[in-house]
Amino acid sequence: MKNILITGGAGFVGANLAIYLAKHLENIEITCLDNLKRRGSELNLSRLRAHRIKFIHGDIRNFEDLTAVGAIDIIIECSAEPSVLAGYEESPLYLINTNFTGTVNCLELARIKKADFIFLSTSRVYPLRTINQLKYIEKETRFELAQNQKIHGVSPHGFTEKFPLEGTRSLYGTTKLCSEYLVQEYSQMYGIRSVINRCGLITGAWQMGKADQGVVVFWIARHIFGGPLAYVGFGGKGKQVRDILHIDDLCELLIRQIKTLDTHNGQIYNVGGGKKLSISLQELTKICQEVIGKQIRISSVATDRQADIPYYVTDITKIKKAAGWTPQKSIHSTIQDIADWIYAEKQNLQEILT
Ligand SMILES: NC(=O)c1ccc[n+]([C@@H]2O[C@H](COP(=O)([O-])OP(=O)(O)OC[C@H]3O[C@@H](n4cnc5c(N)ncnc54)[C@H](O)[C@@H]3O)[C@@H](O)[C@H]2O)c1
Repeated sequence: MKNILITGGAGFVGANLAIYLAKHLENIEITCLDNLKRRGSELNLSRLRAHRIKFIHGDIRNFEDLTAVGAIDIIIECSAEPSVLAGYEESPLYLINTNFTGTVNCLELARIKKADFIFLSTSRVYPLRTINQLKYIEKETRFELAQNQKIHGVSPHGFTEKFPLEGTRSLYGTTKLCSEYLVQEYSQMYGIRSVINRCGLITGAWQMGKADQGVVVFWIARHIFGGPLAYVGFGGKGKQVRDILHIDDLCELLIRQIKTLDTHNGQIYNVGGGKKLSISLQELTKICQEVIGKQIRISSVATDRQADIPYYVTDITKIKKAAGWTPQKSIHSTIQDIADWIYAEKQNLQEILT
């Protein structure tokens, strides 16, 4: 019997992962801990209950909340203030205390319980200015990376783990990078087996998407519920590009990591959909129109938003090889999944997603 603690376990990744693990692994006991800070996380509680997953209403900033959890063999750290805009026009303390100090508390728990540690980090650890200064080609519907970049760790296939880390990256990215360093130190010093997954854009049903986090869900929700929508930054044409990873593909990867942790111990991986699953906002609009059968007005704001980048696509070569894993869900089916979920839960979601 393995006891798995998922922090942020009522959030988008945490709750979907808990349910996926409950469905696909035997002899496990899952506990989800969450302070329900993210609006909409409360909707996941009945889903967790339906899968007999234990829920603890707790805060990773309070070590006492963590020590109240019983036996633990693996901690999967999925809690966060995940917005790249957090701290810009407000105090950064919640962000820092959760994403950094809270993660240190989780590591302390891992040390005491001799538990393995899987950390959900972010592609936002890569610095803004270096990304913005890369050479891009403007195509009809999207930006593309040019061949032969001067910076190493990047090619038309995307960003690898070797992309340089010097420079600033937003407070969100910085708290995550600081946590990564602590994960590595704890791992080395106390013999905790650990994996760091630097995730790009993850999406799917039960993501409580907002303009600053969960943009794909936000975009689809606007097409369904209406409300203002704009292409912001980089000329206001919606040519900025991200790769999309469906939550089920992430869960499948995490199961593989749990099952073969010795193989992944000490590794850092860039995790995402990869080049094949990349899309610009303009292209996303087109698929939304096809799936939802509606065209809505999208305005244009040329000025760049804080901490924004024109392009990020994950080079998934390393993780594909290490885990024998390839994302399965197409962009179209991911968008269809999200639209189906919004229609099915329309009453509960209208207020949260608008
Ligand atoms: N979704 C993405 O596209 C994405 C991309 C890269 C990295 N990540 C990382 O994956 C992890 C999960 O993100 P998500 O998309 O599920 O976000 P989410 O906001 O849906 O989930 C995070 C959960 O953490 C909880 N939480 C916040 N502060 C807490 C605290 N102090 N104590 C306990 N719980 C707290 C929230 O209530 C929420 O339920 C995060 O670490 C995030 O940084 C997500």
